[in-house]
Amino acid sequence: MFTLPDLEYNYDAFGKYISKDIMELHHSKHHQTYVDKLNAAIEQTPELADKSLEDMLTNLDAVPESVRSVVRNHGGGHYNHTAFWKFLSPESNLEPSGELADGLKAKYGSFQNFTDEFTKASLGVFGSGWAWLLPDLSITTTANQDNPINFGQPEPILGLDVWEHAYYLDYTYKRADYVAAWWHVANWHEASARYSAT
Ligand SMILES: [Fe+2]
Repeated sequence: MFTLPDLEYNYDAFGKYISKDIMELHHSKHHQTYVDKLNAAIEQTPELADKSLEDMLTNLDAVPESVRSVVRNHGGGHYNHTAFWKFLSPESNLEPSGELADGLKAKYGSFQNFTDEFTKASLGVFGSGWAWLLPDLSITTTANQDNPINFGQPEPILGLDVWEHAYYLDYTYKRADYVAAWWHVANWHEASARYSAT
């Protein structure tokens, strides 16, 4: 059975950038729903009981068709949000350091250029989806709850949820304001650790 992960901070940890109400709804309702629906699908499908979520998402064709879309959407939702909570840090205004800082500068010319490109990608996601930074420091996006690992790509080192449920309560339709706020709480410790581990 999959379970909702505890957060390493309180719901009110992000002050004016992401409100306590959004954090609480996003974690305790939206993410919990992904977990519950994934578990319900696994319960109906005993052959999946021993598989990790990563195994299922990296090889969706091997998941029985009867639950494939549930695993893709709700399993993906659980996988993506579990990472997303780690991609947020209550230590605001972090910047990458070390190897990751050097790599971003080499690839984009400056950290500012990188954030401009990532912001552009985030704003370009039509409807619900995610923007990701991959270990080769390329930027990609996915629709719905897909993750790059679904498509044979490596696990991202950073990702941003641009579903409306992530920001509507604070920013209404203004995704650009949410993305601008998110840069203040992006967890560069986590991204750097993931980058160094690849
Ligand atoms: Fe979300």
